[in-house]
Amino acid sequence: MATKVVMPTLGLTMTEGTIEEWKANEGDKVNKGDVLFSVSTDKLTNDIEAEESGTLLKVVHPAGSVVECKKTIAWIGEEGEAIPEDDGDEAPAEEAAPEAAPAAASAPATASEPAADGKKSVVVIGAGPGGYVAAIRAAQLGADVTVVEQEYLGGTCLNVGCIPTKSILHSAELYEQVKSQAANIGVDVEGVSVNFGQVMKHKSEVSAQLVNGIGGLFAANKITKIDGSAAFTGEKQLEVTKANGSKETLNPDAIIVASGSVNATPPIPGVGKDENPACIGSTEALELEEIPKSMVVIGGGVIGLELACAYATFGTKVEVVEALDKMLPILDQDIVAVGVSHLENMGVGFHLSCTVQEVEKTAVGGKVKCVDKDGNNLEFEAEKVLVAVGRRSNTEALNLDAAGIKNDRGRILVNDKMQTNVPGVYAIGDCVFGKAMLAHTASAMGEVAAENIMGIEAEYDQSTCPSCVYMEPEAASVGMTEDEAKAKGLDYKVGKFPMMANGKAIIANGGEGLVKIIADSKYGQVLGVHIAGPRATDLIAEGALAIKVEATLDELIETIHSHPTISETMREAALDAEGRVIHMPPR
Ligand code: NAI
Repeated sequence: MATKVVMPTLGLTMTEGTIEEWKANEGDKVNKGDVLFSVSTDKLTNDIEAEESGTLLKVVHPAGSVVECKKTIAWIGEEGEAIPEDDGDEAPAEEAAPEAAPAAASAPATASEPAADGKKSVVVIGAGPGGYVAAIRAAQLGADVTVVEQEYLGGTCLNVGCIPTKSILHSAELYEQVKSQAANIGVDVEGVSVNFGQVMKHKSEVSAQLVNGIGGLFAANKITKIDGSAAFTGEKQLEVTKANGSKETLNPDAIIVASGSVNATPPIPGVGKDENPACIGSTEALELEEIPKSMVVIGGGVIGLELACAYATFGTKVEVVEALDKMLPILDQDIVAVGVSHLENMGVGFHLSCTVQEVEKTAVGGKVKCVDKDGNNLEFEAEKVLVAVGRRSNTEALNLDAAGIKNDRGRILVNDKMQTNVPGVYAIGDCVFGKAMLAHTASAMGEVAAENIMGIEAEYDQSTCPSCVYMEPEAASVGMTEDEAKAKGLDYKVGKFPMMANGKAIIANGGEGLVKIIADSKYGQVLGVHIAGPRATDLIAEGALAIKVEATLDELIETIHSHPTISETMREAALDAEGRVIHMPPR
């Protein structure tokens, strides 16, 4: 039976294409894989291969035609075969139905109908980067918004997470740069030392400034804040226990749960803070009064490596113990290797495939007893034992069962609109199941939830979500790693460019790091961008945008990158993928 050839969809944003040229004429034999025609859009021109072997029976649209994606443009079949009378195209599709919610989280659409009378009331539980952003967006869209927060505006991120960590890391970075670079670049500094009290004071001041800023934004957006903790008493009913002990019942039109996460404590004997004050989580690691002489970090994930980097720079002897056979599995391992090697040069010890059995309380602090993959017993004794084995959702006190909100061990099930299974109840950020636990992820979800509540259809798209690790040098990643591309059996190409060949990077950190781009072999579409080097966490935004707009290597190359900047490495990596890198010898 004759097979139709359709206008391909060469990316999410493509709706139609122009047939530039037919490479075969009606009656010609074509083989599967032969270039059949070329198509152009406002973004790219691509040769399209035949997907079947046979005779080109009919060309429906000649060269120069502009045709909608998925419409029939030709037929291939047996020589002399008749083609169907209609063109095989279906009637224009109705706007695609929104992706169904997971079975456990299917919510009726009524939740997004704006109220007919007056303002829609929205209660947000939690004022972290998910909750406060959701609150502001809902208020912008005309909702009457109340935020219930039991501790502090800004949540973990601003108070005991991203911001304080980055502030401490900045002090560490500057200290390290003065020690390692100052004399070399002609800046003589005598008696450089760390005033740890001031490091911590500065960190707290930065947090306070940002927290105050959120208070100002709440006032400007007329958002009501209740100091207290909320728990469900019914489907869309909350009881709030206020800081002064009084209770209030809230029955809003919609609820956004943004209660975040807390540090997880693994079931390892002796690891609890109550059992041994030497055992600390990331929160306590950001509140230390003195630089510890030694630290064992249990868990070679993001928190473990960032704090290992900070304390090792201040002079702490750090040993990292990781159960898996690699650090930071979320990142491309070429990128991880740069950071790990830097930390090793600073004296950090890494112990992979090493399972912690017990932490014994000692006069020094704690002795971490482990078994490695060969069955050998290893022990590491230190003043502090940082437990950084992940975080768990903070929903225990919410009484999710009273509302019938489906969850997986406390992590709330949601669809891409951030709807739970209960109409009008949404969940965002670290407390939801199956998404990255990151501040920017939570904020993105918050905007999506607020918009859906206020009648604007929105969906959360994880594909452009970058992961950033603030160690030295910084590491950042968006999209597919090479391991993932390999595992999916994709036909991909890789471009790499070392920071060592970039002027600005050499000035900034001596040229440590690299950019690696993974692109699809056929069209050059950017699938993943991975960076280790100075300001990697800022540079990654170009990679995220490239993935969002389905940019190709050509488009990165044709974009002029300013000089001298580290961003030039991105373009050079794209050039390398195309075999035409300028500032490196040919491979
Ligand atoms: P993580 O999941 O990144 O890493 C935990 C590590 O601990 C894993 O590699 C795991 O294999 C290891 N582990 C677990 N149990 C172990 C055991 N018994 N012995 C030895 N190793 C063990 O979790 P982490 O670092 O605690 O971070 C929590 C969350 O916070 C993550 O989702 C992370 O993405 C987020 N975060 C993000 C930051 C950023 O974006 N820069 C900064 C800090 C945290």
